[in-house]
Amino acid sequence: MTGHGLEARYLAASAIAREAGDLMRQRFEEREAGTYKLKGHQDYLTEADGEVERLITRRIAEAFPGDTVFGEEGGGQFSAQVWVIDPIDGTANFARGIPHFCVSIAFVRDGATAIGVICNPMTGEHFAARRGGGATLNGRAMKVSATAEMRQSTIELGWSMRRPMEHYVAMLGRVVATGAGFRRSGSGALGLAYVADGRIDGYAELHINSWDTLAGLLLVEEAGGWGNDFLANDGLARGNPVLACTPALREALVQATGIGR
Ligand code: IPD
Repeated sequence: MTGHGLEARYLAASAIAREAGDLMRQRFEEREAGTYKLKGHQDYLTEADGEVERLITRRIAEAFPGDTVFGEEGGGQFSAQVWVIDPIDGTANFARGIPHFCVSIAFVRDGATAIGVICNPMTGEHFAARRGGGATLNGRAMKVSATAEMRQSTIELGWSMRRPMEHYVAMLGRVVATGAGFRRSGSGALGLAYVADGRIDGYAELHINSWDTLAGLLLVEEAGGWGNDFLANDGLARGNPVLACTPALREALVQATGIGR
């Protein structure tokens, strides 16, 4: 197969993300308010998460039976060719009726992310990248912002209970002290996709899992941005801090967040 099957996997990732997005949108529109559960403190779970993940896993197994899958809900196995998937990133938004969530699919070959696709079914936005092949949004090329001053920047700071709140508050304090504006949208994958498309200038989080991150990080890098070495120290299995941004802000953000030193 072309590029050792990369082209086939890229096309499959896009098709699977669209199908998963359609299912997710249907489940969102028919959901009854208040039907979510918490799997931990501030950690949401909906029935749709499992259903969408099973669909994605089935499609990958049908098309590429030799590959493995590692997903947020079902776990999985690692191999030289592993798909890393988040069926619904932004589960808290989904659960509470906020239409800001997505499916995130990455393909990792020999320890490097080769393909990343993120689909927001509520806006019809399909973000896609192949390593060395650029990043696109609905087929048009994406580029990170040209913002060169922290005072003009908007940075998303992701948050979860996996790290102490005081560490988040301290990072937030250091970032706003640079003059940056900040936001938190509840979807790390979409936050990274927004950096790739120049809508915001950076995304940082003190711990995030690989299924939320790898597709978005590739989007940023392929759109001309910079990202930290997320896969170092077993980031694939255990997660890591993430920082991704437009290149001119790298030094200031590394300093303010402490990520990527
Ligand atoms: C979460 C979201 C959130 C990020 C958390 C993630 P989920 O993923 O991406 O924005 O800050 O670290 O756990 O639970 O919605 O898949």
